[in-house]
Order: sequence, then structure tokens, then C-alpha cells
Amino acid sequence: MPLNVLIVGAGVCGPAVAMLLQGSNPQHNITIVERSPTLRSTGQQIDLKNQAPHILRKMGLLDEIKALCVNETGLEVVDSAGKQIAYFGAAASGERRIGLTSEHEIMRGDIVRALYDASIKQNSDFKASPGQGITYLFGQTITCLGQSAQGVDVTFSDGREHRYDLVIGADGQYSRTRRLAFGQEVSDAAFKSLGVHAAYFSIPRIDGEGTLARGHLAPGRKMIYTRTSDRPVTGALLFTMDESPRLKASYKESVENQREAFVEVFKDMDWQTDRFISGLKHSDDFYANELGQIKLDRLSAGRVVLLGDAGYCPSPFTGLGTNLCLVGAYVLAGELARQGNDVEGALRCYEEKMRPFIDKCQQFSSKTMGALFPSSRLGIWAMHNLIWAVSKVAGLFPQSQKGDYDNHDERLPKYPELNLP
Ligand SMILES: Cc1cc2nc3c(=O)[nH]c(=O)nc-3n(C[C@H](O)[C@H](O)[C@H](O)COP(=O)(O)OP(=O)(O)OC[C@H]3O[C@@H](n4cnc5c(N)ncnc54)[C@H](O)[C@@H]3O)c2cc1C
Ligand SMILES: *[C@@H]1O[C@H](CO)[C@@H](O)[C@H](O)[C@H]1NC(C)=O
Ligand SMILES: *[C@@H]1O[C@H](CO)[C@@H](O)[C@H](O)[C@H]1NC(C)=O
Repeated sequence: MPLNVLIVGAGVCGPAVAMLLQGSNPQHNITIVERSPTLRSTGQQIDLKNQAPHILRKMGLLDEIKALCVNETGLEVVDSAGKQIAYFGAAASGERRIGLTSEHEIMRGDIVRALYDASIKQNSDFKASPGQGITYLFGQTITCLGQSAQGVDVTFSDGREHRYDLVIGADGQYSRTRRLAFGQEVSDAAFKSLGVHAAYFSIPRIDGEGTLARGHLAPGRKMIYTRTSDRPVTGALLFTMDESPRLKASYKESVENQREAFVEVFKDMDWQTDRFISGLKHSDDFYANELGQIKLDRLSAGRVVLLGDAGYCPSPFTGLGTNLCLVGAYVLAGELARQGNDVEGALRCYEEKMRPFIDKCQQFSSKTMGALFPSSRLGIWAMHNLIWAVSKVAGLFPQSQKGDYDNHDERLPKYPELNLP
């Protein structure tokens, strides 16, 4: 029996799970509601590691995604004069290295757009009749969820109401679906702050910037990265453990207030200051948040289920957020295809099978966070020495990950029910 499914959020995992569900049963009626009026294809570089390339390969999208990948050649740690303190090479195919650059690095916008376009193309290839296939609703969100034995009654921001067999919350770290289905208290308590505030935005390239990423530690617990690779603009990532109350409060206010709060914290930093301050003030893709992990005991409440960052954001400091959300899309669609009309049974299996992947990607102690952000010049000097030593050791012993690469695929459950190409 086909299902009436609502997906909240057209980020990375929303379009992915829609495609997988349609492939398993072209008669499913799949609606994706996205709050933003157009596809939100901003954001900086993300890495595709572990299972992510395998899932994209199974979906027939890996070659296309690979062609969109950026070519970053490594990471250089620099002092305030721009002098190299340490160098980490990029991981080559089949290799694992300490550093920032993994084999597949892609701009968030490029993968969001590629998955969205692929879902539109698949939908037209299936020649879905009305009431079937994938439909996007932009510029709208959900305002109310009610559950009964008959399904989930959803109210939309335009006042419309509709009943669904299943609602998938793929609406990111600050998921409203999570709040509506689990309650404000449980939803807020699920956010485990790392005490780090991050701003991401693009700035013009400068002469001689090359293809290396650059990292810099500034006094007062600040960490700054530039990532240029072979692109015409440079991505800037600013992190701070500054406990400015203004910063914390700014997320509930306007983007202008967020920009100002970050300027306040970074205005006296000691590397390319004018360039970053100008970017904080004027970039057109500024995005900021408080970093944290989402940890929940359960991923579903009745027939509402959480997918990706909404349910198990691991935080950019562990990386792997995109990996985890693609594994989630694959396992959720796979279990729904396998369990047929037993939606709640499928959600239980999804939760059970995701747990080990989630635990592995979330392994991280927030206690170590402070050590990564020295406060004083002396602390930074000590950290530079440590980073230099690690870079020398890493350069001598690149680890082979050949075996590991295949293992990542083996760890995924197999779902012939998904009818993948
Ligand atoms: C604008 C943006 C920029 C980002 N930049 C980076 C980055 O530079 N580096 C990094 O590591 N990670 C970044 N992330 C997070 C990264 O995309 C995720 O960690 C990861 O890819 C998992 O994706 P997801 O699909 O679960 O969530 P997301 O990619 O966060 O997508 C969630 C989607 O849901 C939509 N949405 C949110 N609330 C609602 C609502 N109430 N109703 C309807 N739709 C809603 C959002 O607009 C978004 O399109 C960014 C996310 C966003 C939204
Ligand atoms: C990176 O290099 C590969 C191989 O040379 C190429 O296919 C790809 O288009 C390059 N990426 C960008 C963003 O130019
Ligand atoms: C399919 O979903 C849309 C939008 O959510 C809804 O309006 C429509 O009635 C549904 N069609 C069927 C056959 O259930």
C-alpha cells in the first residue's frame, strides 16, 4: 500500500530520503515542505566520508557528486604574520590522514542542489500521476502536529490541514518537528552545547592564496579557517569559545545582530582582521550557530520520526554530519520498504539500526574542546609546538584505509527492496 508522507526540510537528507522512498514504491505520495522560499543552497565545505560515498554510489549519483567536489590540497596552520607553523597533506584515495581535507570535499550548496535536481529528474522519469511522487512546497512550514490511530494531522503555516501516514522531520539542528512531536522541554534538553559559536561566510580571494586551507589560533579562544581550494571565492569559518552573552542571545534575534555580535568578539583578532570583519559585515551568505550535538533516547514519537541533524547532529567538530544523515535516509527508506504498512515497526527498526552509527559519529568529549582553544599567547605557543609535532608524525605515517573503505559499505544493511540502480 502506498503511503502519504510529509518530509519537513529540503536540506541534504530531505531530498535524499524522498528519492529513496519513491524508488521503493513509485505510488507513495511524498510532500517536502521547506521553510525557505527557495532552496537554501548556502553553507561552506562539507566532507563525504565513511558510508556517504557508498550510499551516493548506490543511488547512482557518485560520479556526478565527485565532479562537483572541490580540490583542496591540504591544511597549513599559520601564525599572525601568515608564516607556516605546520602542514597537513590532503588524504589521497584509499588513505586516511590527520588533517582537515578528506578525499571528497564538496560545498554544501552543491550537494543540496545536486540531490534536489536528482529528485526532480527521478520524479519526472517515473511519470507520476497526481497524488503520487514527489512534490515540493517552498516558503511554508508546519505549525501543529496531532496524532491519532488514523495518522498524523498536520497544520501548515498557510492554515491548510492534511493527514499523513508518516511525518519525517529533516529540518536540521533547530528542528521544529522535534519540538512539536517531543515537546519543547525534551527538544531543548536534547541539544548538548559544545560551548563554541561558529560563523560561516564567503569572502573575496586574495592574490597567492593558492589551494590550501589555512588555520589560525588567535588569543581569547578563537580559531579561524579559510578554505579556498580551486574556487573563485574563499570560505571563512570563525569559531570562538568566548562566553559573550550577546553572542548567545543573538541567535534569537536578527541576522544583523548575529553579525554585530561576532564583529564584537573578533574585532581585535591578529590575522587578516580587516578581511574577516568586512566579511562578517557584508557577506551575502553569512550563517552562524552555536555548535552542539543532538542526543535523544528515541528518534520517533508515534508516526513522526527524526532524520539527520534534527535527530542526531554530531556537530561540525566531529564532522560526519552529512555521512550520518545519508545513512539515516538510506536506513529509514530501507526499513519502510521492508516493513510495508507496519510504519511504527519500521521506525523501531530504523532506530535500532541507526544507534551504532550515531554513537560512532558522536564520539567526542566536550571536555577536550577547551584544550583546542587556548586563551593566552603562551597557550597558543604551546599548541603550535604540539601541532607541529603531530604534523611531522602524520607526514611520516599516512595510514592506509583500504580495508576500512570496504568495511564502511559492509556495515550498511542491505535493502534490495529499495530497487537501487
Ligand atoms: C544554511 C545552512 C548552512 C550550513 N552550513 C554548514 C557548513 O558550512 N558546514 C557544515 O558542516 N554544516 C553546515 N550546515 C549543516 C549541514 O548541512 C548538516 O549538518 C548536514 O548536512 C545534515 O543535513 P540535514 O539535511 O539534516 O540538515 P540541514 O542541512 O540543516 O537542512 C535542514 C533544512 O530544513 C529547513 N528547515 C528548517 N526548519 C524548517 C521548518 N520549520 N520547516 C521547514 N523547513 C525547515 C532548512 O531551511 C534546511 O533547508 C548548514 C546548514 C544550513 C541549513
Ligand atoms: C577538481 O578536480 C577534478 C579532477 O581534476 C575535476 O573533475 C573537478 O571538476 C575539480 N573541481 C572543481 C570545483 O573545479
Ligand atoms: C498527496 O499529498 C498532497 C499534499 O500533501 C495532498 O494534497 C493530496 O491530497 C495527497 N494525495 C493523495 C491521493 O493522498
